Amino acid sequence: MNHFSTQAPQVEAATLPGQPFVAYREGSLHLEKVALSALAQQHGTPLFVYSKAAMLSALAAYQRGFAGRDAQICYAMKANSSLGVLQVFAQAGCGFDIVSGGELERVLAAGGKAEKIIFSGVGKTRAEMRQALAAGIGCFNVESEAELDVLSDIALAMALQAPVSIRVNPNVDPKTHPYISTGLKGNKFGVAHEDALRIYRHAASLKGLQVVGIDCHIGSQITETTPYLDAMDRVLDLVASIEAAGIALAHIDFGGGLGINYNNDTPPEADALWRQLLAKLDARGHSGKKLMIEPGRSLVGNAGVCLTEVLYLKPGEQKNFCIIDAAMNDLPRPAMYQAFHAIVPVVPGSQAPAASYDVVGPVCESGDWIGRDRQLAVSAGDVLAVLSAGAYCMSMASNYNTRGRAAEVLVDGGQAHLIRRRESAADQMRHEQLV
Ligand code: LLP
Repeated sequence: MNHFSTQAPQVEAATLPGQPFVAYREGSLHLEKVALSALAQQHGTPLFVYSKAAMLSALAAYQRGFAGRDAQICYAMKANSSLGVLQVFAQAGCGFDIVSGGELERVLAAGGKAEKIIFSGVGKTRAEMRQALAAGIGCFNVESEAELDVLSDIALAMALQAPVSIRVNPNVDPKTHPYISTGLKGNKFGVAHEDALRIYRHAASLKGLQVVGIDCHIGSQITETTPYLDAMDRVLDLVASIEAAGIALAHIDFGGGLGINYNNDTPPEADALWRQLLAKLDARGHSGKKLMIEPGRSLVGNAGVCLTEVLYLKPGEQKNFCIIDAAMNDLPRPAMYQAFHAIVPVVPGSQAPAASYDVVGPVCESGDWIGRDRQLAVSAGDVLAVLSAGAYCMSMASNYNTRGRAAEVLVDGGQAHLIRRRESAADQMRHEQLV
């Protein structure tokens, strides 16, 4: 089989690129001090495993960047909303960026503080607004003029004022996948730069609102610094005109979006990025402003792996298939965005001949692939690790083909804690009934 390109990195080194907490030790893959083969055996596969140290180390890069500043890091929990993961960030003092009433309930259940929650999203329902106002969240990131009016009415009916920031669309190209770029004119998110001042005036006139900030979010998996610097310039231009109109802004929220290393990607480190952004902020006279950010992927993406067993090897006429027990319902990113995740053996050194495989799941769709043209030496029964699976995998998992969602384990040093048990068919049918 030599008619396929082999884009997968060969894994011989002890530590894997971009994943300092994932390493081969004594011939098998470990996350922190825990052998992944043992976890696969104990809990079965597919299994997501996360490293607490990796999450805290990613968080520390932002904390270093903001040392000595008035800044609040709000973990964008859509990246991974499992309670055990939220608890790590809540205990580390983070706030949270939420996009639904369900996410609000999760944060509160995990011990997060309401006043450190910001609520983003273009389609907040009235019920969600009431729920968030009653909980006392820190800020609504409002995405349209119509939403401002509704939020003001609802707050007034509750005899409250809703703290608001308006998401402005800086129209900067983040140079990422079109599905995950969000700050361009054609996107549904935020309000246009040209309309922002007028909309801020309108917000300031509404009795049920208290204007507290401004925010933007230009996209996800951003690996360059320039789009951030450009977006900051655009936002600071607006801050100047809004404040000149007599509307004070207590904070600036620069959203999330910093990328991770999936496949030789080289995003800036969070602290290095923020050194540059803070220098610009200071140069433009805003050093006293409170800063907020909403990172998701960069806090959890490289903290997680998905363990999966090889079910069958199937030589084909044009391709070899390596059929695994994880599928697009567990790991939707390849099917949705043609995303690359490295796939490596948990115990390398198989005697099986290396060949090029399409690594595919059991779901009945041709789009159900996890990796294409991967050079692997594997046999049925081997366990593979899909890397960089901490963000936008479990949180996007579905029950398609009535597949139960995977179990999840949080590793902390030498300890492994089950944070979600495997979903059963009974769990899935719980809310259904025969007529
Ligand atoms: N803030 C807002 C308003 C967002 O919409 C997002 C992500 C974030 C923060 C966090 O962005 P991050 O730091 O994670 O890049 N499912 C896609 C990614 C969708 C991102 C949606 N918004 C993927 O798997 O690549």
